[in-house]
Amino acid sequence: MTQNLVTKPFMEVLSGNRQASPPMWMMRQAGRYLPEYRATRAQAGSFLDLCFNAELAAEVTLQPIRRFGFDAAIIFSDILVVPYALGRSVRFEVGEGPRLDPLNSPDLVGTLNSAIDLSKLEPVFEALRIVRRELKPETTLIGFCGSPFTVATYMVAGQGTSDQHPARLMAYQHPGAFAKIIDVLVESSIQYLLKQLDAGADVLQIFDTWAGILPPREFEKWCIEPTRRIVEGIRKVKPGTKIIGFPRGAGALLPAFIERTGVDAVSIDWTAEPKLVREQVQTKVAVQGNLDPLLLIAGGSALDEGVDEVLKNFSSGRHIFNLGHGITPDASIAHVEQMVKRVRDYKG
Ligand code: CP3
Repeated sequence: MTQNLVTKPFMEVLSGNRQASPPMWMMRQAGRYLPEYRATRAQAGSFLDLCFNAELAAEVTLQPIRRFGFDAAIIFSDILVVPYALGRSVRFEVGEGPRLDPLNSPDLVGTLNSAIDLSKLEPVFEALRIVRRELKPETTLIGFCGSPFTVATYMVAGQGTSDQHPARLMAYQHPGAFAKIIDVLVESSIQYLLKQLDAGADVLQIFDTWAGILPPREFEKWCIEPTRRIVEGIRKVKPGTKIIGFPRGAGALLPAFIERTGVDAVSIDWTAEPKLVREQVQTKVAVQGNLDPLLLIAGGSALDEGVDEVLKNFSSGRHIFNLGHGITPDASIAHVEQMVKRVRDYKG
């Protein structure tokens, strides 16, 4: 009861109410740059063991909130738990990133389960319930999934590559088989996200890390349209759900993305052109971003100037301060503190 009376600054921005001091969090805020994360990770075993241990996943979700007082916690998991719950083999090799069984021919796509087994993701839902209980009522809890396209890039290639081109190639060579993967991921993501809302997520973010590799026509087909279907599918069951899109590298396609998908906010990377974003995006939805994460390695006056530039560019409208992509393992905690102080001291 009382929880509903407390305002969440983050949710206010998503509802259209600009905050004088922008709410903030960081993509990948639970991660290897934090000694307490490394300690919990060592206790858990492998990366996926950590994702599927509800108590420890809840613990690492809360670590950056305790340390930096961010306005939002993002549930600790990974976008590749969806292929795992679809019965694919998913492993994380130390120092090499994810490894899956490749799905790069129509025959192989024939082996893809059409329905997700959500019972495999029960620890994620349990972690959300734990975090919700532990968080202060004014702190927002973010649930997430990968976009169908970005998840498909790892499923097709079976790993991360420098430009994830195997999926783009498959979409040209075998559009029907590629569309089958996307369709399964759209439906699975809707079900997965609805369960995250039931477990206590306040808002959802869809990570489309690889959207920027697509030419405009393919972007429409494989980024905008599947995202639109997920937004529609969620709101059909839970009207009014707030959803943030992150079509990294979308650039001049951002206005089309927000208009067609119906998201409430868009996360932008550090290459986004500020004037275009202000005039054609921020007038319609909230904007989240977009400090270059490398500035958290650089520090000093470069970091101060970077923070000021983000605030100057976007604080006149609905803004959530964030990085343009995830914080890197070699970022410095002192620099994160410097950034947090500068944003918190800002009175726009
Ligand atoms: O933001 C958060 O704090 C929540 C946790 C989160 C992780 N992955 C934890 C993670 C989120 C939101 C993700 C999303 C994710 N995972 C994306 C989309 C966003 C992005 O960053 O681009 C993608 C593409 C993945 C897939 C993935 N997971 C890759 C390619 C890798 C290997 C690269 C790396 O950084 O090691 C991961 C592993 C991963 N996911 C780690 C973490 C903390 C590092 C694993 C470890 O602790 O050893």
